[in-house]
Amino acid sequence: MVPIPFLDLPPLVGASGTLRLPGSKSISNRVLLLAGLADGVTEIHDLLDSDDTKVMLAALAQLGCGIEREGATLRVRGLGGRLAMHEAELFLGNAGTAMRPLAAALAVLSATQGGRFVLRGVPRMHQRPIGDLVNALRQLGCAIDELGQAGYPPLALYGAAGGALATGQAIRVRGDVSSQFLTALLLALPLASTEAAIAIEVEGELISKPYVEITLALLERFGIAVAREGWQRFTIPAASRYRSPVSIHVEGDASSASYFVALGAIAATQAPLRIEGAGSDSIQGDIRFIEAARAMGAEVRSQANALEVRRGAWPLKAITLDCNHIPDAAMTLAVMALYADGPSTLTNIASWRVKETDRLSAMATELRKLGAKVDEGADWIRVTPPTTWKAASLHTYDDHRMAMCGSLAAFGGVPVRIEDPACVAKTFPDYFETLFSLARAEPRQVPVIAIDGPTASGKGTLAAAVAERLGYHLLDSGSLYRVAALAAARAGLLDGDEADAQAIAALAATLPLRFESGHIWLGVEDVTDTLRDEAVGLAASRVSALPAVRQALHGLQLSFRRAPGLVADGRDMGSVVFPDAALKIYLTASAGQRAERRYKQLISKGISANIDALRADLLARDARDTNRPVAPLKPAQDALLLDNSAVTIEQSLAWVLDAWAQRRPFNSLSG
Ligand code: DC
Repeated sequence: MVPIPFLDLPPLVGASGTLRLPGSKSISNRVLLLAGLADGVTEIHDLLDSDDTKVMLAALAQLGCGIEREGATLRVRGLGGRLAMHEAELFLGNAGTAMRPLAAALAVLSATQGGRFVLRGVPRMHQRPIGDLVNALRQLGCAIDELGQAGYPPLALYGAAGGALATGQAIRVRGDVSSQFLTALLLALPLASTEAAIAIEVEGELISKPYVEITLALLERFGIAVAREGWQRFTIPAASRYRSPVSIHVEGDASSASYFVALGAIAATQAPLRIEGAGSDSIQGDIRFIEAARAMGAEVRSQANALEVRRGAWPLKAITLDCNHIPDAAMTLAVMALYADGPSTLTNIASWRVKETDRLSAMATELRKLGAKVDEGADWIRVTPPTTWKAASLHTYDDHRMAMCGSLAAFGGVPVRIEDPACVAKTFPDYFETLFSLARAEPRQVPVIAIDGPTASGKGTLAAAVAERLGYHLLDSGSLYRVAALAAARAGLLDGDEADAQAIAALAATLPLRFESGHIWLGVEDVTDTLRDEAVGLAASRVSALPAVRQALHGLQLSFRRAPGLVADGRDMGSVVFPDAALKIYLTASAGQRAERRYKQLISKGISANIDALRADLLARDARDTNRPVAPLKPAQDALLLDNSAVTIEQSLAWVLDAWAQRRPFNSLSG
């Protein structure tokens, strides 16, 4: 599947409901590494399934760990501190939580047990610093080559069996660039503490301390009690050994929770929004985001493992806050600041510059596009809310948090485009689906693309392709008439010449219909394939001529108009059901072409067919659909006509997308 290039959000106006958070990225990757190094099998529940955990899992599998998945449970058979492979080249994408600890663990293991490992990532990973960690490991006597630029991945880690490490004196590591260097050492050095205790001394002010607390808490779950003197000195006791906790549960991601806390603060005006998976029991530092959200006016009720949030003050209250303790979630505050009653200033966030992208300059650039005034310094940002909001196309820099933050800008009354929305897969693959299950837009603000045309014109295929490319919902209105016809036929209502319109309409109004990932259910029966039968199509053409049936299905069709947008195909989408559709296409092809396409379709399904009979059938169907008095098949006045007799589906798709682009309020991809 081609990743969608952008996702357009209509102006959003409200939010309600309940969501379950995906597992914490920080906990997931630490637990995976510890389970991979420990003895025996660790059963991990609710692990995050995302890009960053995928690269960690793939690396562990390459190193010889046994990995089995069963539903939401993953079993990892660890190495027990012994290398199973002595050579490997590992690709770690853009996952700092995989690169840093694996570099430390493999440096220590190859120095003592012999081996050579190369660690690489995406180009951005090769711009994210690791020199301070490399220096610390070299003090221990580990051999490390920087294969590109000094101080950055890719790295080669190597050594000969029987090598000894210099554990006599404290290892010094800088704490003011990324706390992941200290975390990496803490996670890996128990491998080296077989003989004597090992001390680590932090140079400079340690940033992001809560992440180090997660590391210490998880080490304890794996049997390693690190002694700590303030935030300066950490000691790993002699003869430390990772012991599997047998079973461990990954709590929901508190950084991911921040987007929904913000959503509640901005838009939960009726009832609180409920966020399940993280609460007051959380060991993640970003849970303290709720204090900042409260300071901005959110009403947050915190339970052990859940949060309930609703709008309190509106506009939100501007804040000035040192965000060192919540570096990731603080990005969400920068977007909340758009809705505040004055300028908000976030300080002590220099680490933003060395994350997935330079988040300080990225945030400043993108918020300005929306009309905000943004000032930025080496380690701070000040956001003054827009006086006039502007529709903007937000660049996301392959940074999941830029994409998720950007989506929260859709409450300013203007549409917002999120470029490369799939980058949320780093930590929250279903982010947008979750957002749209909670957030509401005024139906008239939700864009509709109507694609009408005669039978076998290819509108179904085209509509599905357009919907997929735009990330919009899809309404195949013909399928509703088909289901109604199927149900009517089964109820014996189509037996005679005269159909009982009222009875069929009553049936149509109460169909137990469900649409689920491309499948259509009638009660407990999956009718997706049955609906495609020619006989059902003909029956649909009959029942669809009955005004009462059309009326009965009208409301159901309107209910498909939900954020972020809708592509609707049928006969009267542009002319009757969605007369205000932002783009209307009337798709045709010659009768000969259409008969041929239908013929090929049937033959490919192993159904025998006669092309002349098909042609006659579809002409008869056209005649009935066109000549009926209600909602006859005809182009809406403002529809664009596309005869696709001689063009491919890709060409038609490109044509529609081009027509759509011209109707959008965004000047260009870069806004
Ligand atoms: O598009 P289709 O072949 O699945 O449609 C089946 C019948 O339903 C078609 O012959 C006419 C009717 N229909 C309609 O009247 N209005 C629509 N919007 C869609 C389909």
